[in-house]
Amino acid sequence: MTTGARVRPQLAYLTEQLNELKQRGTYFKLRVLEDEQGPLCTYDGKRVINLASNNYLGLCDHPKLREAAIEAIRKYGVGSGAVRTIAGTMRIHMELEEKIAAFKGVEACVVFQSGFTANAGTVSSILGKEDFILSDELNHASIIDGARLSRAKIKVFRHKDVAHCEELLREIEKEPGRKLIITDGVFSMDGDIGPVDKLCDLADRYGALMMVDDAHASGVLGRNGRGSVDHFHCTDRVDVQVGTLSKAIGALGGYVCGSRDLIDYLYHRARPFLFSTSHPPSVAATCIAAFDLLEREPERIERLWSNTRYFKEQLAATGFDIGGRTTPASETPITPILVGEGRATMEFSRALFEAGLMATGIAFPTVPEGKARIRTIMTSEHTREQIDQALEILTTVARKINLLANS
Ligand SMILES: Cc1ncc(COP(=O)(O)O)c(C=O)c1O
Repeated sequence: MTTGARVRPQLAYLTEQLNELKQRGTYFKLRVLEDEQGPLCTYDGKRVINLASNNYLGLCDHPKLREAAIEAIRKYGVGSGAVRTIAGTMRIHMELEEKIAAFKGVEACVVFQSGFTANAGTVSSILGKEDFILSDELNHASIIDGARLSRAKIKVFRHKDVAHCEELLREIEKEPGRKLIITDGVFSMDGDIGPVDKLCDLADRYGALMMVDDAHASGVLGRNGRGSVDHFHCTDRVDVQVGTLSKAIGALGGYVCGSRDLIDYLYHRARPFLFSTSHPPSVAATCIAAFDLLEREPERIERLWSNTRYFKEQLAATGFDIGGRTTPASETPITPILVGEGRATMEFSRALFEAGLMATGIAFPTVPEGKARIRTIMTSEHTREQIDQALEILTTVARKINLLANS
């Protein structure tokens, strides 16, 4: 067997595109985590303060979640053996869905293999080509892909611009198709909060369906981390609530909450649910333990917010552009540090890493051209000392590249 790097001519076009990324300075190599996902960990053999993970509440390596996973493996083995609709629905999958539904205060819930498939599978199955989707321009890629797969007509409204959404709704008011308004609860690249309540008003006024993707709001906003829908007191006004089990919950998966009929319909029609194997029982058990913790240890969320406030205040005082000038202002533990140009951002990120800080550079096409940034995420588990050390590294490296307004 040969392992040489021979490029088949059929694939040469991919190599060319990669070379283009290299020329633009936005090509990256995957950094490899060598221990647990925590505030201080080892990537590529280097000990760094970690400001890049979605492990908001430090649950990825929580002892209670580990125990739950190990116990489930002992009891049920490591795999479910089938898709949910054939033979792969285990008692523990049902328990998790019941647990989430009760937590969110809705009739029912369905768990998908990821937040991505929850969004894409739901949007693509509940709408058809006669229908309309009104989607915020900064909604997550999984919503965009689901919207395309549905073949519905897509109307994109300017970021958080409720008046623009209404204008688009008015244009299609007389059309027979269904209308679905979709927003992220928290936007993943800017950390700002979607106008869920105001969009619900529009949905009520125009008879539209309302959907919210709470991937970054679950475990972060609302009572005990119930999400943005709870934060805005809109539980009864949102038809489709999506959440993820992969970020604050610390494991893997996504879910949809809503009416019993919505969930039954998704059981029958959502393609990732129908055509992809269900979670290993250990993942379901881990998630159940995580929701228990959210109820029992709200102080984790309080710590997350107090760390977030401190970090943001210090960044702003030092002169970093953390959004609010040319980009939306962050309101959550996701804090972007705006750099602008893609190449400079990636170089900044690499220099931070060398200095002991893991903070990922994000460039086009994930964010618009000219709005490349370092995206930082605070967690409840960072100590004040680690945060101060991170600030010191950021400041020293930023000064070297003249990024600071008042340096
Ligand atoms: C807003 C948003 N929705 C959905 C997802 C997908 O969630 P998951 O990682 O569970 O697939 C993400 C994750 O990147 C996200 O940021």
